[in-house]
Amino acid sequence: MFCYNHNMADKTFSRYEELKTQVNFHNYRYHVLDAPVVSDLEYDRLLNELKKIEAEHPEWITPDSPTQRAGAKPSEKFEKVRHPAPILSLANAFGADDARAWFERIKKLDDRVKKAKFVVEPKIDGLSVVLHYHDGQFAQGATRGDGEVGEDITSNLRTVKAIPLRIPVEGQESKVSVPSHLVVRGEAFIPIKDFEALNKKLEEAGEKTYLNPRNTAAGSLRQLDPQLTASRPIAMLVYQIVHAEGGNVPTSQWEILEYLKSLGFPVADISKRFNDLDSAIAYTETFDKGRDTLPYEADGMVIKIDDLSLAADLGFVGKDPRGAVAFKFPAREVTTTLLGIDVEVGRTGVLTPRASLEAVEIGGVIVRNATLHNFDYIEEKDIRIGDRVLVKRAGEVIPYVIGPVVDARSGKEKKYKPPTKCPACNTEVEHIEGEVAWYCVNAACPAQLVRNVEHFVSRGAMDIVGLGIKIVEQLIEAGLVKDVADLFTLKKDQLLKLEGFAEKKAENLLGSIEQAKGQSLKRLIAALGIHGVGEVMAGDLAQTYGSLSALSQTTTEELQQIEGVGPNIAESIVDWFARPANQKLLKKLKAAGVDPQMKKDEKKKEGAFAGLTFVVTGTLPNFSRDDAKEFIENNGGKVTDSVSKKTSYLVLGENPGSKFEKAKSLGVKIIDEAELKRLAE
Ligand code: IVH
Repeated sequence: MFCYNHNMADKTFSRYEELKTQVNFHNYRYHVLDAPVVSDLEYDRLLNELKKIEAEHPEWITPDSPTQRAGAKPSEKFEKVRHPAPILSLANAFGADDARAWFERIKKLDDRVKKAKFVVEPKIDGLSVVLHYHDGQFAQGATRGDGEVGEDITSNLRTVKAIPLRIPVEGQESKVSVPSHLVVRGEAFIPIKDFEALNKKLEEAGEKTYLNPRNTAAGSLRQLDPQLTASRPIAMLVYQIVHAEGGNVPTSQWEILEYLKSLGFPVADISKRFNDLDSAIAYTETFDKGRDTLPYEADGMVIKIDDLSLAADLGFVGKDPRGAVAFKFPAREVTTTLLGIDVEVGRTGVLTPRASLEAVEIGGVIVRNATLHNFDYIEEKDIRIGDRVLVKRAGEVIPYVIGPVVDARSGKEKKYKPPTKCPACNTEVEHIEGEVAWYCVNAACPAQLVRNVEHFVSRGAMDIVGLGIKIVEQLIEAGLVKDVADLFTLKKDQLLKLEGFAEKKAENLLGSIEQAKGQSLKRLIAALGIHGVGEVMAGDLAQTYGSLSALSQTTTEELQQIEGVGPNIAESIVDWFARPANQKLLKKLKAAGVDPQMKKDEKKKEGAFAGLTFVVTGTLPNFSRDDAKEFIENNGGKVTDSVSKKTSYLVLGENPGSKFEKAKSLGVKIIDEAELKRLAE
């Protein structure tokens, strides 16, 4: 009997080890390579099995278990860490001439520079961090600090899934040897898309939005609660070995990058090595123009001498090594005049201030408006109308006002007072306890109705083609649409009375409205515009409840069982369904034939495309972008925005963009819409 149990435990233990390895490997595939090889469902299954074993055998848990990422409790303050070698900075070069001048200077110091090779890397605008590995285990992580001493943010960094807890990551083809003490440096950051999604979520919840990806990443890593860090989409790219003891590491920068990659670290895929400086500069300049295509904010590229012993021999100027230079992109910050502040009413009634600016060009784009985040922000920054203001445009993010140029004031600037009444309907605005936003709570506010309908018919929601903002406004003005359900009972003769409507246009619109009746439950839930419920959560709610009537009867407790649903969102959902006006709306929708139930194909996440990553470019013959995305996701695939080596397929349409060239150069498989459909079968 004893023996039997012992064997069982042995077996469970080896299964536990295997699960740890597997889950860590799948984390790596997903977060580092952006190329998962299992579906989310399979991943969850493995993780759950692992958690179950850990619940039964807590004594087995080791720090490299994937469940231990957000472990340690908040501490009082960060300890100081002395870096094993100085964490250096970089000298700047502004443009090609500056970079050549740098080359001429160092050529005089050492003859070998003449024949040197160069590595070009992105200069990511994030937070510099230093990672220590002892015998392959992630042991400590620190901020740069003053370059000599940083802060110990190990618990926070452990939550960053792109940072391997153990190297080499299991499952790598070749086993690479690791020095007993290895110290690696890289940049932690939030990708632009994730930053925008985070802000959208916060905005929907009426909370303060963040200013920019850099500050958000830095703030998230330098606060005391690892759980909070874990909830932030922090990514990481490494580029330097600061220190190695008890083992050998490569002696050229390019080989260092390859080596780090082979250990399982995330390394920038656009980094490249060149035989001469001119080619390195030419490559750098292509990114100056194309920086909007990068998934992260970069303020330049770094050009580094490849031979690290030569680089070391060149020495430093202050804290800047002579062997590398930051080739800075022109800053996308300008000053202009703040002409006024407009207030927009969102579909949930949130009032948001928007800067109206004297038109100005920022990085090739004419900017006339910029976000001011919220009324508190205007007050905190003391932004006044008539001020010269600093405006920044980064990535494809909407430009934002950084703050006033106080020295440029003439005294004629006017302090701004937030409105006490809704600019659209004149109702007193209200403030919700604990939120920064001000709301117009008038359910019949025309500005809200326009936004509501606009949201309801949008691509990510009910996707009613041909129903643009102009027509929405027309329908509301004519009194034909008082809520979104009214759309489904529109008659042709009503439309024909509107300006610009002829037979054909009216028929087309009615046709697409009719078609929208068959949209999925997920889309309908997202379309309702419930405070805090975006597309992803709508999908989770659809999966859990299967119909609107089931969802309308849920409780806050039940809702909180769903991952990502906290007490606030749960309450907002229950609240929405409890309102008589909304109940009436649901009845009207149902009566009009809009009452989707969960479709079977939406439930399954696995499918023909499980583990595959797609990028779509150009116009496809039958699919819209959203259709294509939905089709791929319904078949278990993933859709990303930019082409990389990890892209499984590029789906090519007419008039493709630069993604086509990129895919060709990387050897990514290219297919058309028809082929995509065939593959799904
Ligand atoms: S190399 C000797 N490479 O830029 C090593 N730095 O202005 C010196 N940075 O503090 C740094 N990406 O935080 C290097 N690929 C990259 C980088 C990079 C971003 C940051 C780093 C540094 C700052 C220097």
